[in-house]
Parts: sequence; structure tokens; C-alpha cells
Amino acid sequence: MSPTSQIKDQFGRVHDYLRISLTERCNLRCFYCMPVEGIELSEKSHLMSHEEVIAIAKTFVEMGVKKIRLTGGEPLIKKNIEKIITELTQLPINLGITTNGILLDNYVELFKASGVKDVNISLDTLDKRKFEEITRRDYFDRVVNNINLYEANGFNVKINNVIIKGVNDNEITDFIEFTKDKNVAIRFIEFMPFDGNKWNNEKVITFNEILSVAEEKYGSENIIKLKSKKNGTAKNFQIKGYKGSFGVISTVSNPFCDSCNRIRLTANGRIKNCLFSSSETNLLTPLRNGEDIKPIIIDGIYHKKQVRGGMTSDKDFFDPEKNANNRTMIAIGG
Ligand code: 5AD
Ligand code: SF4
Repeated sequence: MSPTSQIKDQFGRVHDYLRISLTERCNLRCFYCMPVEGIELSEKSHLMSHEEVIAIAKTFVEMGVKKIRLTGGEPLIKKNIEKIITELTQLPINLGITTNGILLDNYVELFKASGVKDVNISLDTLDKRKFEEITRRDYFDRVVNNINLYEANGFNVKINNVIIKGVNDNEITDFIEFTKDKNVAIRFIEFMPFDGNKWNNEKVITFNEILSVAEEKYGSENIIKLKSKKNGTAKNFQIKGYKGSFGVISTVSNPFCDSCNRIRLTANGRIKNCLFSSSETNLLTPLRNGEDIKPIIIDGIYHKKQVRGGMTSDKDFFDPEKNANNRTMIAIGG
């Protein structure tokens, strides 16, 4: 057994899960993630190179990180992605990836050979035209084909679905039906506020609302509650007799901060100790200066706030002044 992580915050939460954003770029333009006008990209020299990603990841693993997930932007468009995956999977960790699915068909063999099993794919609608409206691009068929391809190849496929009132909330049961014959886990994600994403409280469809829609269609006696995973963010369910499952990530209506074990590393080499923290800790500059980054990591995580980056009350969380300080999601990576 590897030792317990040395990375703890002031509330005693042990941090052993690192999410690495490899790039701020993306080949889609989902409106809830990326502002229409695009975002100001970091200068290339300010981004982590493949070698720097590996060096920082190794440091975290030495400190006790056991799980790493690659995110973006879209991680599969990162230069040297093959090398990054191959080298990371040689570390004693579980490696997963969150992707929009467009390029996945190119990577089946690499993922199999290197042992990447956990593949989370974003898909917000089962309607091709609506997909184009949400993502401003025409890749629906490719993404759906890739979901099928990965499911057929035995990967652990999760589908991320950001559920937004008036956009795709009429598709909740269609997505649950998608799990009838497919061993995939749909995860409905409550819509969260980020810089420039036109969020407002009215557009959030909550955990309770999603569950009532499911109960109305299937009857509560046919909905099995699955055991929740340690540090898991979703509450999961399965319709009796269905192959796959569905869950809800209730960041807005019921945050799961108490059991948070996550550290986020941005593509420009900064740690964000919370998805909603407005302060960041720079690791890349000290790494380039040859400094030991371990004490900087320890200090950056120690000061993590107890709940949602310090927006303890819903009033704060829903306050545009407060939540606009946050990066756009494209520059965090979920
Ligand atoms: N609210 C909730 N989830 C979001 N994601 C991106 N932006 C938001 C938002 N505003 C999710 C997408 C993607 C993951 C990386 O983050 O579903 O799968
Ligand atoms: Fe790209 Fe994912 Fe953001 Fe959509 S949600 S723009 S796919 S990074």
C-alpha cells in the first residue's frame, strides 16, 4: 500500500487526487464553458511542456497522490499527448481522462496498451441539431460513435451532461433510456456559474428535480440507489434491469466539499485548491527556477477554504460579483 498523502488542508481533508488541465484550447465552443468571444489564451511559453507536466505529476505522486485525471480545454489536442499518457501510466496511479470525445477513435489502442480505463465524455444532448447549438460545432455523430466504440471495448465510460433549464432538461429520461442497453454511467451535472457563461439561478435544474423526473417515469420502486464511492461527487442510481446507471453531481444545490480530495493544476502550472477559488498558487515558475515545489504545494492546499472557495452561503455563491472572479471553465477543466 502506498502511504497516505502528505497533502492536507487546514480542515484535515487528505488530498490524493490531481486533475491536470493540459491545454486551454478546445475544438468545441460549449456556451456554458467558453464565452462566445473566446478567452485570452496564455502565451505558449507560460504553459507546461510535456516534460514539466510529468515532473510536476511525479512530485505529487511522491507526496501521495493516487489518482490523476487529464482535462482541458480538450486534453486530446495537446501536443505530445501520447507521451504524456504513456509516461503517466508508468507511475503508481490510476489515470483517467475527461474529453469531449471527438478524437477518441484515434486513441483506443494507446489507452488499452497503457491501461487508461476511466473515460469521461461530455454529451449534453441526444439531438444532433441541439448539439450544434450548444457546442457551436458539428461533431455529434463522431462523439456518439466514439461513446459506442469505447463502451464496446470495455472502458469505464461516464457521460457528463450539464443540465440547463430550457436547453436540455427535456432530455433527462432520454438519457436514462440510453443506459438501458449500454454499460455507461450518465452524470447529470448541475449548471455552475463561471466567468462569462450567462449563468443564473433559474437555469439550474437541481438533483431533486432530476430525481422527480425519473420517479415520475419509472416509479421509485424501479430506481435502485447505488452505493456511493468514497470521495465520489455523484449520487448514483440504476433503473431495474438496465445495464448502465445515472447520477447527479449536485455542486450547486448540495455541495460535497466535506469529502473533497481534489487538487487542480491549470495548463499554465498553477494549482487551484478549489474549483471556485479565485486565488491560485504558481508551481511552474518555481519549478523552472529549480526550487523544490513540495512546500509550495503543501502551503497552497493547506489554505483551501471549507466550502466552494469561501462562498459559504448560497447568497454569496449566487452573487455575480463573487463568482465572476473565477476563471472560465475552459481554463479550469472541470
Ligand atoms: N457547469 C457545470 N459543468 C460544467 N462543465 C463545464 N462547464 C460547466 C458548468 N458551467 C463540465 C462539462 C465537462 C466538464 C469538464 O466540466 O460537462 O464535461
Ligand atoms: Fe470544450 Fe469541454 Fe468546454 Fe465544451 S465543455 S468547450 S468540450 S472544454
